[in-house]
Amino acid sequence: MKKILGTLSAVAFAVSASASFAACDAGEKVVKLSHVTGGTTHPKVVAANNFAERVNKDLNGKLCVEVYPNSTLFGDSKELEALLLGDVQLLAPSLSKFGSYTKKYGVFDLPFIFKDMDAAMAFTASKTGKDLLNAMEDVGFVGLGYWMSGMKYFSANKPLLVPSDANGLKFRVQNSDVAKAMIAAMGGSPQPMAFSEVYGALQTGVVDGQENTWSNIYTKKFFEVQDSTTQTSHQLLAYLFMTSKEFLDSLDADTRAKFIQIADEVTVAANNSVKQKEEANRKNILDAGGKINELTPAQRKQWVDAMKPVWKQFEDEIGADIIAAAAAS
Ligand code: LMR
Repeated sequence: MKKILGTLSAVAFAVSASASFAACDAGEKVVKLSHVTGGTTHPKVVAANNFAERVNKDLNGKLCVEVYPNSTLFGDSKELEALLLGDVQLLAPSLSKFGSYTKKYGVFDLPFIFKDMDAAMAFTASKTGKDLLNAMEDVGFVGLGYWMSGMKYFSANKPLLVPSDANGLKFRVQNSDVAKAMIAAMGGSPQPMAFSEVYGALQTGVVDGQENTWSNIYTKKFFEVQDSTTQTSHQLLAYLFMTSKEFLDSLDADTRAKFIQIADEVTVAANNSVKQKEEANRKNILDAGGKINELTPAQRKQWVDAMKPVWKQFEDEIGADIIAAAAAS
């Protein structure tokens, strides 16, 4: 009988900063789930661990999921390639990291396209959103679900209240053309960089600022090496919980159906609790001494006006119909 670490010791399972998984039995197919986030309160950490726990219980004897958080198995630059090579079977990368495979996901990065996470969830539940889940079928990627993470906020080594405060500053961005254009539109210099390098780059001044959710800013301690974070809510951060066609095809029909059912259920539960997790991590930042700047409506309008022209720049490659559907949500 396989020992499931999650049920033996919930605390040990939750706090492990590195790989956390059950001891697999002989004959079980090992399923590696790699991701880049860390801590115990991050929505992706919780969703990944819940998925592993469910599969290891309900498909005991058949599949055995091992979770590798914190870029311990693969980081941003190698994980998608590793999935195609079969070196890992499950990932949950940010939707901003697929530019080499599809331009359509640029829609999720457009500044101020989603008012909040509810609007983003309405879009992902729409026909256009569901179709996008499998935009990379030709590559061999299968989208199992969208995991919301939160709205994004700018932090920097000085307070950012209006876009001109960002003039001349270097901002770490994910490897996304839309994010790069957005930083340029506010007079900053975009520096694409892997997530695992961000804390060090902020600490040593390689970059002056970054943009992320409360959960990432708290669990990666970015607030410790920044003056403050401004509540811009300018962009969404969400993940594609994904596998490969090759892996899914390797499962027998019953196992595959159960695996997909668990993915659906874990996705619903993760998205239902994401807002509460983000709020808790916002409070964790304040409790730990981090500073948060709120915007007046007039200041906020300046951010929207500065960034909105970016939409037009990407209309052709994303598709005007996709942008319209997202904006309508
Ligand atoms: C980032 O690279 O900033 C984030 O996408 C990391 C993550 O997966 O939340």
